[in-house]
Amino acid sequence: LSQPRFVNPLPVPPVIDGSNGGTFTVSISQFYQDLGLRNPITGTPMLTPVWGYNGTYPGPTIVARKNVPLHFFWNNNLYDPSTLQPLPHLLPIDTTIEWALMNEAGWRQYGVPTVTHLHGGHTEAASDGGPLAWNTPFFTKKGPDFIKGQNEPYTYNNDQDAATLWYHDHALGITRLNVYAGLAGFYVLTDDYEQQLKTQHKLPADAYDMGLVIQDRMFTNDGKLFYPADLEEQGEISTSILPEFFGDFILVNGKAWPVLDVEPRQYLFRILNGSDSRFYNLFLSGNNTFTRVGSDQGLLPSPVPVNQMLIGPGERTEIIIDFANPSLQGQTIILRNNAKTPYRAGKPNDPRTTGQIMAFRVNKTLNTSIPLSILPARLLPSIAPLVQNGPVRKLLLAEGEDRFERIEPILGTVDGGAMDFDEPVTENIKLNDTEIWEFYNTTVDEHPIHLHLVKFQVLSHQKFTGDLDPVTKKLTNIRLTGQPQLYNLDEKGWKDTHIVPAGEVTRVIAKFDRPGKYVWHCHILSHEDHDMMRPFIVSDTGD
Ligand code: C2O
Ligand code: CU
Repeated sequence: LSQPRFVNPLPVPPVIDGSNGGTFTVSISQFYQDLGLRNPITGTPMLTPVWGYNGTYPGPTIVARKNVPLHFFWNNNLYDPSTLQPLPHLLPIDTTIEWALMNEAGWRQYGVPTVTHLHGGHTEAASDGGPLAWNTPFFTKKGPDFIKGQNEPYTYNNDQDAATLWYHDHALGITRLNVYAGLAGFYVLTDDYEQQLKTQHKLPADAYDMGLVIQDRMFTNDGKLFYPADLEEQGEISTSILPEFFGDFILVNGKAWPVLDVEPRQYLFRILNGSDSRFYNLFLSGNNTFTRVGSDQGLLPSPVPVNQMLIGPGERTEIIIDFANPSLQGQTIILRNNAKTPYRAGKPNDPRTTGQIMAFRVNKTLNTSIPLSILPARLLPSIAPLVQNGPVRKLLLAEGEDRFERIEPILGTVDGGAMDFDEPVTENIKLNDTEIWEFYNTTVDEHPIHLHLVKFQVLSHQKFTGDLDPVTKKLTNIRLTGQPQLYNLDEKGWKDTHIVPAGEVTRVIAKFDRPGKYVWHCHILSHEDHDMMRPFIVSDTGD
């Protein structure tokens, strides 16, 4: 499949305006969409069967306002509207890993389980959309943690500061496939403070403020999504889990290598790495620089000018690109990527394909009725450091093998060793405690670790050595080598997903201020689906 680049305009997803509150019903369904692929012989557009929310991939951008609650029904309509028969998955389900319908004989008849999680949301447990809260079409089967969603909607209180959140599917063991099929969208939460910066023209607003979700994909020659499964399908058994997935096409907002025409002024881009495993180290062609202004959970204290920026799966970053420089007039600027796959010890990417993301063409006339933005020297008055009053947890990232001798990155505790997702909860947290979580990464890869419910501050990274039991993965004799340090200035902002480098302990601090059952996991979706996920419980007593 040969593919022209920088000819398809960047799509802007439709908006669900929740700024005045309300109850919304969103339909999860299958449809055809033009992802920018061109027939290699005729050059005509090809349509791809995808899944999405309200008939679009990525889903509509939900605009929410701080302290204005929203209610959502996420309806699993993955069935054929004429026969009402549930649709099969677009991609091969792996029935050899723990997954939503693993205990259901004849699971195909029920269709595909889905559950929608608001990533980065300070959400009550019943509406969190965790991996066991799924349901199939017509609610014929529901996961053990299914509480709300049928007669009662999910509730998002939005009692948190402005931030670029996103929603995506989270069904156990098929999250990677459901997201790959298209189930992801932006949830942009704003507040009075951010709106004030925008009305004072300190930050770009409205059409100059846009989300960019970067995802890699593979396609068959006839334009269908391709997932490189080991297609040994025997009856009910198929395997498709991979150590990591890397696609050779880069899509932004659901379009392959798109282009955006811009005015000579500042734009705010909310960048989301919505890929399975691919990290992006983003930079602009022509040595152009840009400015980081926000991370996962909102604004940074001050703008940070950079010439490159690493973003792991699940992370968000808000950047300003200033196209006003007269030397850029009429120019095309390419957003590029030079991260290795897997990050950081893997192979270089292909500069002609995965090394390119999208293009900006500075060819629109300046709309002078909207004043230019002028970034302030400070974006937030300050971020008060959290003060620990609960335990320090020593958590483990390790690599093992599953029962089929496939490599399986896994989580656990330093003292208890590796633990599967369904082993008893070890992270029992007292409500309103502020805890330090230390992630000891004994693997050779970097893993973006995500906690539901909380936003956290990054305290430090530090190299260590220790003795890892080859069977239990218990880690003893930890010796901290190197100095504790921070790597990037965005680590000064609030985060909910953070890259934990190999051979290092990464320390974060968070306040757990809602009761209930949540999860923490690696956001490399192929890892999350393959047991790199653990529950945690917040309760009055903490046990
Ligand atoms: Cu973005 Cu638990 O996930
Ligand atoms: Cu991982």
